[in-house]
Amino acid sequence: MTFASGLAAIPKAPAARDAQAGVCTQPYHASVFNISAMSFGALSANAILALNRGAQRGGFAHDTGEGSISVHHRAHGGDLIWEIGSGYFGCRNADGTFSEERFTENARGEQVKMIELKLSQGAKPGHGGVLPGPKVSPEIAQARGVPVGTDCVSPAAHSAFGTPIEMMQFIARLRELSGGKPTGFKLCIGHPWEWFALVKAMLATGITPDFIVVDGAEGGTGAAPLEFTDHVGSPLQEGLLLVHNTLRGVGLRERIKIGCAGKVVSAFDIARLMALGADWCNAARGFMFALGCIQAQHCHTDHCPTGVATQDPLRQQSLVVGDKAERVYNFHEMTLDALKELVQAAGLRHPHEITAHHIVRRSADHKVQSLAQLMLPQLPDGALLAEDLSTLPFIYRNTWPQAARRAFLADVRQLCRHPMPAAAWPCRAPRGPYSAAVPDAPRPGR
Ligand SMILES: Cc1cc2nc3c(=O)[nH]c(=O)nc-3n(C[C@H](O)[C@H](O)[C@H](O)COP(=O)(O)O)c2cc1C
Repeated sequence: MTFASGLAAIPKAPAARDAQAGVCTQPYHASVFNISAMSFGALSANAILALNRGAQRGGFAHDTGEGSISVHHRAHGGDLIWEIGSGYFGCRNADGTFSEERFTENARGEQVKMIELKLSQGAKPGHGGVLPGPKVSPEIAQARGVPVGTDCVSPAAHSAFGTPIEMMQFIARLRELSGGKPTGFKLCIGHPWEWFALVKAMLATGITPDFIVVDGAEGGTGAAPLEFTDHVGSPLQEGLLLVHNTLRGVGLRERIKIGCAGKVVSAFDIARLMALGADWCNAARGFMFALGCIQAQHCHTDHCPTGVATQDPLRQQSLVVGDKAERVYNFHEMTLDALKELVQAAGLRHPHEITAHHIVRRSADHKVQSLAQLMLPQLPDGALLAEDLSTLPFIYRNTWPQAARRAFLADVRQLCRHPMPAAAWPCRAPRGPYSAAVPDAPRPGR
């Protein structure tokens, strides 16, 4: 069973301010369920081989993660989404800056179907990463373009752009260099004005990404400080709805697809998130379980007992590629079969037709409500382009005007009731506007 989500070459309804730009010339029809970003380095060679073979057999996409494209990604020819993180692995100069030549060489490869610029991930927003030197094998070094045996660092911020406008220009450049492949970005929503700044930059430049992947704070990782995994970032439902709603509010939703990730493991998870505006879902740990992960939580020690998250050649032998590739394929297939049954039971033909009215939740002992009643109301198309925002939910009424397309930070003094010196930010940044605007949102399904 395959449900596809297409990144079309020509938008159905081009936004008035943006009629020409932001359109890929090599569209890709993704499955509604794909393998989320996990690097070779975080995962073993055998894990990458099994994931890609499963993806190839099932016709779905395999996100490379920041660690770029290795020989193991290429062995079976499954569709790849190439993720570009702040370390520019696979497309970097020796000093760690972005290399157009190396990017072009990799991005034009037939197996690469989409380009995903990574801003942040839900398990550690705003935090960089490091693959310790002992794990940087010759194969990993070759894929990433870094020296063997040396700590491999992903900085917390990008060096190729510094403002939302520069970021849109960078996306346009990546799309052009890739030969017109769908190019988008992945982020976990933080302060709403940072996201709004990106949308204002889209409007100002006329450049739109082809897709956005929203990651939830509940998302997994191979390694991150517990404070970040447990407490930083917006949960998926709220982040997804904010992105979907804002794009509708500026008339860009028809031309930007939305993917999402964060504890997606079942057909119902997919249905619930598509009801809130997602075009497709990605899973990381779900596919790790298919590989045999038992959540021993030793990813960062290189002592993974199942061979999934280790570079130790001996330990990797416990993951038999042919056997696990079959399980990866089956997990995708069976999940989509279950999704088909849900869709049919609701009298629909495609999961895209599921709406927030179809998903019902118990919100209190004696109260049952649909997601449509529980969540932030959906914005009408173009609502944020109107002069008068006074009838919109608080988050748009209050925060949208404060966001600046030339900076990720809003003028916090305007957001506070009691003005404070800019230097006092971010430790005293107001929490009110966002949390107050997403009231009583239900927790994810399980
Ligand atoms: C082992 C592992 C490695 C990951 N590596 C990356 C990565 O390189 N880049 C990235 O954007 N996200 C990475 N993620 C996060 C996932 O792609 C995804 O955004 C999120 O964690 C949802 O995962 P879940 O399905 O496990 O909840 C990783 C997650 C795991 C579990």
